Amino acid sequence: MTLHDQLVGSTRPRRLARDGRPVAQGRAPAERPPHRELVRRELAAYASRIRLHELVREHGSPLFVLDRDRVTTQLLELRRELPDVRIHFATKSLPHPAVIRAVDAFGASFEVASRGELDLLEREGVQVGRCLHTHPVKTVADITSAYLRGIRTFVVDSPSEVAKFAGLPCCDVGVLVRLSFPNPGAKSDLSSKFGVEPDAAAALVDLCLRSRLKVRGFTFHVGSQTTSAEPWKRAIARTLELMRTLEERHDVRFELLDLGGGFPVAYDEPVPALGELARGIREALAAAPEHLAVVIEPGRFVSAPAMTLVTRVVGTNDRPDGRWHYLDDGVYGAYSNIPAEDVHAPIFAAAELGAQPASEDAFERATRRILTRTRVPVTLAGPTCDSVDVIARGLPLPPLGGGDLLVSPMMGAYTWATATGFNGIAPTPVVVVGH
Ligand SMILES: Cc1ncc(COP(=O)(O)O)c(C=O)c1O
Repeated sequence: MTLHDQLVGSTRPRRLARDGRPVAQGRAPAERPPHRELVRRELAAYASRIRLHELVREHGSPLFVLDRDRVTTQLLELRRELPDVRIHFATKSLPHPAVIRAVDAFGASFEVASRGELDLLEREGVQVGRCLHTHPVKTVADITSAYLRGIRTFVVDSPSEVAKFAGLPCCDVGVLVRLSFPNPGAKSDLSSKFGVEPDAAAALVDLCLRSRLKVRGFTFHVGSQTTSAEPWKRAIARTLELMRTLEERHDVRFELLDLGGGFPVAYDEPVPALGELARGIREALAAAPEHLAVVIEPGRFVSAPAMTLVTRVVGTNDRPDGRWHYLDDGVYGAYSNIPAEDVHAPIFAAAELGAQPASEDAFERATRRILTRTRVPVTLAGPTCDSVDVIARGLPLPPLGGGDLLVSPMMGAYTWATATGFNGIAPTPVVVVGH
């Protein structure tokens, strides 16, 4: 398309038939736009709906925009797809008061792993007794503190952990035995750090029972950002088989199966819909006895879509390997999910979303339209003095100048929670929107 076409629209003649009537330009079968374009369209509509530019004008940048409504929407989707399963939100993924209140108002509970998380929940008025304490390794003081606040379900994966419960009244404490099901395909394979292999679990259950510690059931985590139902199906089938064997052997009845987290979100690539994964999970659960309660501990799926990040270009340099833009946030801050998890939320220039201030001038508007269609591969770097602080390389973006804004969706999980204050850079502020 020529520059003229772009400015005033195409004037190319339409094809005419012999009788002079325009030929119907048969449409090629509609092709689905690439993932990045679909995300851009959705983000553009969202940015306009929440008046993103005004929020930045008011609160500055960098800025996290936390949307309470999205927390609720994600929880609703989980409830719709897994209706018989209880939800315990993984607090660690986004321990922000507004999220805690939204999850609590929805009627879901929490999984917690530290005294700090329990403090936060209590400050927000959550009845913490319903929470699951899921850390497989904790101090006796952690256990006692959680017990005194009302928590009765803990997780163990080793004999040394079982021994720590010796001083507590065993009659009202129950444990879940954490099983390991390796999943190297996940972004974070938690079984490489925690869990007892299913073949070795019988000995641990035996030890719990001899220690007069009630085993309420089993828990596992198939790995964060798991993009297929298979790991859950295999883990559920193996755990149910283990339960049957041990119930017979010890004449006990397990009451709880905890499927952990791991539900994925689409960053720079599409992922299967929750419905597809949930179908596989429901099929596998069909073999579970009726009395067995099933819970999930979703973190990323609930928190990632709830936050959008806005950053700003503070410097530009043409280096031997191309153009670099230095932003006011980076991998030691809001983009901490990049080095920690190798996940890459899409990054758009605000101009690509129409989220830049509108110009009154028609020529300037037309020029901006053309510029936003031109893409130059750039490196985006964060604000610290460390060369590790690189957010993206070779990312095609429209030409950017000092002060221009960039926007990333899907930035709620393991971002704000894991950011550091390296180089004295203040935490990225959070503005809360939604009801
Ligand atoms: C015990 C436990 N449950 C749940 C989660 C949440 O996992 P995800 O964010 O993948 O849903 C985690 C994450 O580390 C975890 O350790």
